[in-house]
Amino acid sequence: MTSSETMAGGVRPRPVVDRLPRYAAGKPPVAVDGLASYKLSSNENPLPPIPAVVEAIAAQTDFNRYPDPLSTKLRTALADFLEVPAEDIVTGAGSLGALNQLLAAFAGQNDDGKADEVIYAWRSFEAYPICVGLSGAHSVRIPLTPDGRHDLDAMAAAVTVRTKVILLCTPNNPTGPVVTAEETERFINGVPSDVVVVIDEAYQEFVRAEDAVDGIRMYRKYPNVVVLRTFSKAHGLAGLRVGYSVSQPGLTQYLRVAATPFAVSQIAEQAAVVSLQNFDQVVERVQSLVDERDRVTAGLRDLGWFIPEAEGNFVWLDLGENSAEFAQLAGERALSVRAFGTEGVRVSIGEPEANSRFLELCAIYTKPPRRS
Ligand SMILES: Cc1ncc(COP(=O)(O)O)c(C=O)c1O
Repeated sequence: MTSSETMAGGVRPRPVVDRLPRYAAGKPPVAVDGLASYKLSSNENPLPPIPAVVEAIAAQTDFNRYPDPLSTKLRTALADFLEVPAEDIVTGAGSLGALNQLLAAFAGQNDDGKADEVIYAWRSFEAYPICVGLSGAHSVRIPLTPDGRHDLDAMAAAVTVRTKVILLCTPNNPTGPVVTAEETERFINGVPSDVVVVIDEAYQEFVRAEDAVDGIRMYRKYPNVVVLRTFSKAHGLAGLRVGYSVSQPGLTQYLRVAATPFAVSQIAEQAAVVSLQNFDQVVERVQSLVDERDRVTAGLRDLGWFIPEAEGNFVWLDLGENSAEFAQLAGERALSVRAFGTEGVRVSIGEPEANSRFLELCAIYTKPPRRS
């Protein structure tokens, strides 16, 4: 018996809880004398929220009240912004909250005791295995192609009678490429219409690839599609936890049942509404990060490094066994980056000085990733 079991008086969680990986959040950088520290490990927006958002939050005082459980103001603003009915939008505590609501509604342990299956590409967003496992469903992970893309043919071939949900992550965190509109449509048409296809577009505003899928277009066309979006990345509101799903009424009715009551606080709702009202400023900031991303990827390619198409606010270094070593070297330069075991390193686009320091490290690193 472990000490934690003793302390819990022998209480045990559901077996799946013991088997799940722990979510490893990006670490803050270690302080290094004489160097400003930068956190490039969590795909955060390095820019603060726009001033109108900060002012609107500071003016709020009604915290003795619960928030509007339906986030009506935000859903109305989003309906206008996306040109969709407000009824089709369900908010959550981040898009992760929206994803958990979706899994609670559509995947888990059935009455026959057998687990549903949820298919997703791997490596992808590291919260997926945890969310799926906690829902009671079984994860079916389909390896990415060598250039970090979803292998949609293999994902379609993995569908069984138990498949309830498929997660498409575009751009894929941590590798960066999008799924294209053409391949997504072929994929949706090729899987049974009673399987829910989730298009996770957490980084949608950073995408510049013209052939990229637009989740909202897919939602308009297909009743089994759910789009996930967030205010955490482009809007720079990760700390306030607000995201949402968009789906047709046939699905949305069940998402509402599974939605956590009061998941979005009034501060988060207000911040999101004001950020949408000032979207031109958000776009300007996003463009500055996209410019930096393109500077970083061009710099790496000039060095001869293989970098998958980077459409989010991060780049992927396929460093294999050298991943930990590279992360360590970055740490010594007061940059925290995210190493994933012996697979690779994800580096978020940060402040220009941080990005330049990262490129300087790459210029002297002698074991660059090459196309395999
Ligand atoms: C692909 C993807 N989806 C969803 C999320 C969750 O974002 P949030 O819950 O902050 O909206 C992230 C965050 O890193 C992500 O990378």
